[in-house]
Amino acid sequence: MDHFLYRDGLLHAEDVAITDIAATVGTPFYCYSAATLTRHYHLFTEALAPLPHLVCFAIKSLSNVAVLKLLGDLGAGMDVVSGGEYLRARAAGVPGERIVFSGVGKTRDEMRLALTGGIRQFNVESEPELRALSEVAVSLGVRAPIALRVNPDVDAKTHEKIATGKSENKFGVPIAKAREVYAEAASLPGIDVVGIDVHIGSQLTELAPFEAAFTKVRDLTQALRADGHNIRRLDLGGGLGIPYTRSNEAPPLPTEYGAMIHRVLGDLGCEIEIEPGRLISGNAGILVSQVIYVKNGEGRDFLILDAAMNDLVRPSMYGAHHDIIPVVEPAAASPAQAFDVVGPVCETGDTFAKARALPHLAEGDLVAFRSAGAYGAVMASEYNTRPLVPEVLVKGDHFAVIRARPTFDEILSRDTIPEWL
Ligand code: LLP
Repeated sequence: MDHFLYRDGLLHAEDVAITDIAATVGTPFYCYSAATLTRHYHLFTEALAPLPHLVCFAIKSLSNVAVLKLLGDLGAGMDVVSGGEYLRARAAGVPGERIVFSGVGKTRDEMRLALTGGIRQFNVESEPELRALSEVAVSLGVRAPIALRVNPDVDAKTHEKIATGKSENKFGVPIAKAREVYAEAASLPGIDVVGIDVHIGSQLTELAPFEAAFTKVRDLTQALRADGHNIRRLDLGGGLGIPYTRSNEAPPLPTEYGAMIHRVLGDLGCEIEIEPGRLISGNAGILVSQVIYVKNGEGRDFLILDAAMNDLVRPSMYGAHHDIIPVVEPAAASPAQAFDVVGPVCETGDTFAKARALPHLAEGDLVAFRSAGAYGAVMASEYNTRPLVPEVLVKGDHFAVIRARPTFDEILSRDTIPEWL
């Protein structure tokens, strides 16, 4: 459930009409609902309530500092994958002890930043990274808390570009090798082993792959404890999928996910960490765009929007589906028309949908892409020198621009022409 509903014939975000935001901000823009973000965060805290836990929001899915502040103020931890994301979490007021640092390629500078600024744990993905982290920690006179990300060799049954738990993927240490690497970790002067980390992929629509991975983590916990390691935290990653269409998808609910975690891992006495991104942010955001032209092509009609692949890359990058709805509620009986929905960017890949059945739409009409809160604005670029799309946050009857559209002066001023040219 989200808070983007028609009211008096107009799409609203909570109590604000999308047309009012469009009149102030212009299009395209992302719009997020504070109530939806809050609700989705609480679905996880409630699902894990019987166990000691920390829900660490995966910043990569939606990284605006205002959104991070909203979630951080509710008590959320943060999962960061770069120095930049770490700084965003801190700028939002999230204390270091609620920040976990993931990612296969952490640099020594990023390690230093987090060790001096405060960190809950590094999720370490390889032996070279482990040794580098120990060196950096020793040079600062501290010990770095770590969980080793293990690769359980489980098929997440999701899009190949976002599956991470198979042995051929670049992520984690093969689970069969984990005891050896933990032994090395325990011998390093700058390392403090606190737990185990696993993340098998994103947009998972079944619980079975999670359960298979968590069962392996359970066995590993027992083996590592027998080896003398004080395993007290299990970071289970993110990945729970969301429905992208209204009709036929029903991914498992956070309650079912939480119950499974409780069943598989609940008796180990570990604190449970999870790193959901998409389930919290995905359906909490829409991308609003305006129809520039309706073009009648050969055998097909194109709806040319002012949003493009640079603003929302998921359809062209993953073939992803986003529901597209008109901002003015169509009459119940209005006939559907098939449109190829495209943006103005100069490549055929700039296609959001093919032969999509939509109600009658004309130049100047507004449409909204649903489920665009996760991996939308964060993956936007300025390709074709299209200004980075702005972001708006709604809470009740308030709305605010939380990232402004850059001006062309700002964009051009970032380039410099060398003196010698
Ligand atoms: N933790 C780690 C270590 C991750 O790599 C990810 C996502 C998450 C947590 C959060 O996963 P989520 O709960 O959001 O599924 N750009 C792609 C998704 C990439 C996901 C990358 N890692 C998309 O638009 O579908």
